[in-house]
Amino acid sequence: MNNNIYQEKLMDHYKNPRNKKNIENPDFSTGRQNPSCGDSVLIEGKLENGKITDLGFSGSGCVISQAAASILLTSCTGKTVEEVLALDKDYILKLLGIPLGPNRIKCALLSLDALKSSLEKIKNN
Ligand code: FES
Repeated sequence: MNNNIYQEKLMDHYKNPRNKKNIENPDFSTGRQNPSCGDSVLIEGKLENGKITDLGFSGSGCVISQAAASILLTSCTGKTVEEVLALDKDYILKLLGIPLGPNRIKCALLSLDALKSSLEKIKNN
């Protein structure tokens, strides 16, 4: 895919976000804010036998942060806690498919940071 196709994918997720919903009685939930702009996301989810069965997010922000949340949550439903904890910046960049400068990387990582911090709390309890 070339950059244009990736940009179309981002715009599609921004305009029609998947998993933008509240989760009833979530097993985990964590918010994250990008300190440089004040944008934020809240990630909530359900777990069953160590596997993520449902994920939702809310919040507001730039195209990258909101599209990244939508794309990330779509890709993480069905994964185990350990699998998600092993995901890193490169995973998000690969999912997004476009090169990002240091400021935009913060936007892209917002939802992964929130999700991983939620799951780390669960793992350590
Ligand atoms: Fe705020 Fe991207 S500019 S999260």
